[in-house]
Amino acid sequence: MDNKPARLENLHTDKGKVPVYATGIVTQPWDDYSATDHDVWRRLYERQRRLLVGRAADEFLAAQDAMGMTPDRIPKFADMDQALRDATGWTLVGVEGLLPELDFFDHLANRRFPVTWWIRRPDQVDYIEEPDLFHDLFGHVPLLMNPVFADYMAAYGRGGVKAHGIGPEALQMLTRLYWYTVEFGLIRQKDGLRIYGSGIVSSKGESIHCLDSDAPNRIGFDLERIMRTRYRIDTYQKTYFVIDSFEQLMDATRPDFTPIYARLASRDSIPAGDVLEGDLVFNKGTGEGWATDADV
Ligand code: PHE
Ligand code: FE
Repeated sequence: MDNKPARLENLHTDKGKVPVYATGIVTQPWDDYSATDHDVWRRLYERQRRLLVGRAADEFLAAQDAMGMTPDRIPKFADMDQALRDATGWTLVGVEGLLPELDFFDHLANRRFPVTWWIRRPDQVDYIEEPDLFHDLFGHVPLLMNPVFADYMAAYGRGGVKAHGIGPEALQMLTRLYWYTVEFGLIRQKDGLRIYGSGIVSSKGESIHCLDSDAPNRIGFDLERIMRTRYRIDTYQKTYFVIDSFEQLMDATRPDFTPIYARLASRDSIPAGDVLEGDLVFNKGTGEGWATDADV
């Protein structure tokens, strides 16, 4: 990605000094974070927490507190590990960035969550193209404290290894599931819709847009529907899928996907913004502001 060289210049640490182990694991170079790095963490943390009270799933905010995640300074992965190991047996591993798919699945299947060690620059607080420490640690890690969600993520990793062996179409369907649940999922709680997707909780703009805007569709979770639905990588989502509980997510994804992949392979994909007959519609989006170029 083109912002990488600039980002590396901005840090005291550079790639060459961080020892890389098998499957892309690096030691978090904690002592090398600058005051600016810690400050970026603090600003993002405080801004998102303020916004997410009443918007994010209760479990998410409670888990951040339980893990001892604070705005004070960039957490040490090793410290975050303690609470996580006790709660669900997950651990964190530092990585340089996105991993090859199979390595990523293998980590998840073994309850290791890869966390990018570097944090974005101050001019990137509102948007960054690739996952950084804030997205990974603030966004993904807290829900790994939830036993049901933790099991879902490990099952996803095993399912990923399997889909990788089946072929690119299976992988694409599984990736859509990840996108519309782990990254951009909404959950229905007592007092209304809440956020649990990591891609949303780590974004100020999308944390507001996904719940408050009339533009996007908000539709009930449906496994096969999601597996056929294309998505956006460079704009807010046109559609969010809503689960009732993490148990629902776990139960719906328990069946063997192999026959599902085979059956869906011959069906057309669904554009990101379409609403279909049979959808459980919480909000039919107005489509205001939607990009007209192709979905991924
Ligand atoms: N049950 C899925 C399969 O057989 C695995 C899976 C579980 C995938 C949970 C995603 C989430 O492939
Ligand atoms: Fe992510």
